[in-house]
Amino acid sequence: MNQIRSHAQRLSQAAAFLFAATAITGFAQTNAQVPVIQVQADKVTAKMPPTFYGLMTEEINYSYEGGLYGQLIRNCTFKEDAIQPNIRANAYDPAKYYPASYPAGRAPRFWSSVGGAALVLDAGTPLNDALNVSLKLDASSASKTSPAGLANGGYYGIPVRPKTTYKVSFFAKAAPGFTGPLMASIVSTNGQVLASAAISGVTGEWQKFEATLKTKGVKPSKDNIFKLTTTAPGTIWLQEVSLFPPTYKNRPNGDRVDISKLLTDAQPKFLRFPGGNYVEGGDFVNRFNWKQMVGPVEQRPGHRSCWGYWSTDGFGLPEFLGWCQDVGMEPVMAVFAGYTLNHDHVTNSAALEPYVQEALEEIEYVTGDASTKWGAQRIKDGYPNPFPLHYVEIGNEDFFDRSGSYEWRFAQFYDAIKAKYPQLKIISTTAVKSRTADLNDEHYYESEEAMEGQSFMYDTRDRSNPTKIFVGEWATRVGSPTPNMAGALGDAAWMCCLERNSDIVLMHCFAPLFVNVSQLNGNNRSMQWASDLIGYDALTSYGSPSYYVQKIFSLNHGDEVLATSSQNLPVRTAPAGRGGGTRQIKSLFYSATRDSVSGKITLKIVNSADTPQPVTIDIGGVKSVATKGTATVLKAANRTETNSIKDPQHLVPVNEKIKGLGASFTRTFPPCSVTILELNAK
Ligand code: AHR
Repeated sequence: MNQIRSHAQRLSQAAAFLFAATAITGFAQTNAQVPVIQVQADKVTAKMPPTFYGLMTEEINYSYEGGLYGQLIRNCTFKEDAIQPNIRANAYDPAKYYPASYPAGRAPRFWSSVGGAALVLDAGTPLNDALNVSLKLDASSASKTSPAGLANGGYYGIPVRPKTTYKVSFFAKAAPGFTGPLMASIVSTNGQVLASAAISGVTGEWQKFEATLKTKGVKPSKDNIFKLTTTAPGTIWLQEVSLFPPTYKNRPNGDRVDISKLLTDAQPKFLRFPGGNYVEGGDFVNRFNWKQMVGPVEQRPGHRSCWGYWSTDGFGLPEFLGWCQDVGMEPVMAVFAGYTLNHDHVTNSAALEPYVQEALEEIEYVTGDASTKWGAQRIKDGYPNPFPLHYVEIGNEDFFDRSGSYEWRFAQFYDAIKAKYPQLKIISTTAVKSRTADLNDEHYYESEEAMEGQSFMYDTRDRSNPTKIFVGEWATRVGSPTPNMAGALGDAAWMCCLERNSDIVLMHCFAPLFVNVSQLNGNNRSMQWASDLIGYDALTSYGSPSYYVQKIFSLNHGDEVLATSSQNLPVRTAPAGRGGGTRQIKSLFYSATRDSVSGKITLKIVNSADTPQPVTIDIGGVKSVATKGTATVLKAANRTETNSIKDPQHLVPVNEKIKGLGASFTRTFPPCSVTILELNAK
């Protein structure tokens, strides 16, 4: 059995190694003492929760609209200009539907006229109560030689790939005399028709039309437009004009394939949804009102996202669940808790009760069987099997509610949910006194220095608190639109801390997840919040260095956390923060886990310094450690290096077979690097 060697012995061996390394490489190490990390393989400090690594999501930065949601037409329901009634909590009836109104005589945003047609929003010819407006197309200028109609540029372009089938659908009716047909097409910037289909049969009654558009051997491109035109003069009304490429796992009303693959590759185990601020909404009328986000998409009214743009809610509650199913995650669902971002909230428990009932029904939608009202609705929406649900979060960031109402709002939700679903774990969003929350959601958005500076903070947290920790939003916010290597280093240091402390930190997730990088600033900007995990435009997507750190951490860990300790951790000089000046922070971070079946030890080492770092690693409590193992390394020449939509794979982890391992070994870790060592231990 290997014993951890004495400190003096370690230091003299490490100094000898350092001398040799200096002689060979000419690299002058300033810190004379080589750091030592000890792993006690005979001391398990935590069973790592199987749902430790997850994702956090909300509609921000065009996450679903113009992002994950496959639908390509922007403002497909013509409600981007909707004027929502302004109703305070005390006057708002959660059971009531508050329809939007529309500015008179205005053409809908993101649509343009083709061939002299006139476009105008028409609230007098609605499709239904939910989509209580339509687009009136006056195509009286149309002729055989000059088609008239409308065009849409999608979310910063309509993407096209070769030999691909796109599904177009819309609702339409026409004034008497229109003979049709309508021509749906995808057209390139130089006017080339890339795919088209003729659709006839438009009458005086609303009907749904569907067609397929097939491309030939075209080049992949994104700066295309979608057109709907006619050569027959007439007046046509349109609603819910939608265009879908093939979706992930061919799910109807489904998700973009490339982004879904990136997510699946990282094997996240849960999805915290729908927010974030998005669950709260800017005000009561625009809260996350899940009952208006189920059923057929044309029955969903949509709402204004708290991040400023219109959510059609085509990506609604069933779609969140479909996403969980397709990527292999379990839902961690946040429910609206009677408080909105404008600090408006219900003021007494009778007024809160309808929202509590809504939450119970929402849980029934997710978990109920066919005999339940809302389980039956989920089945109707395409999901026959109940979803595994273990965690429900009450609201989001309720520490912003300075009135203190969260204390009793939380208690009311907690009591009702525990009474009906005693197996569920309830997550609070700020500390509460009258009930014991199962978990409390802590959020951290920090600089690299701050993140690294706090990367030992949970090691000293009180273990006796029955409320465990869910770090439901965190990010090292360095780099825009997506984090650079500095962000990834801060993230990796932080995740070492989370792993080491997974006896009290049961789950965590980086946030925000997505950003459409097409238009970072200005009007109609596609980004509201910088430093997001995954970036994309209409055609392609990429993972940031932070994404790759998430991925390699999520993929490489055992089910047991091993005790670790260290000596001589090096420090580096870093900016002190807002007050200016500098401070010394650690530049070496670590965590160790083991697979209880195979005995394999996974060791994570982060060197955030700009210089190589020799480290001595001692593994105690094992019979042997093989000399051969593997290393997965993400590194950069400097911390400002990054990935981008134009250079998506600039920094990616590299996997290599390595030698020179054992129960005690010294290895030099590259500057600005994250390394995962797999040690074959017995
Ligand atoms: O992640 C962006 C926002 O940060 C979230 O919506 C909110 O919960 C937090 O303040």
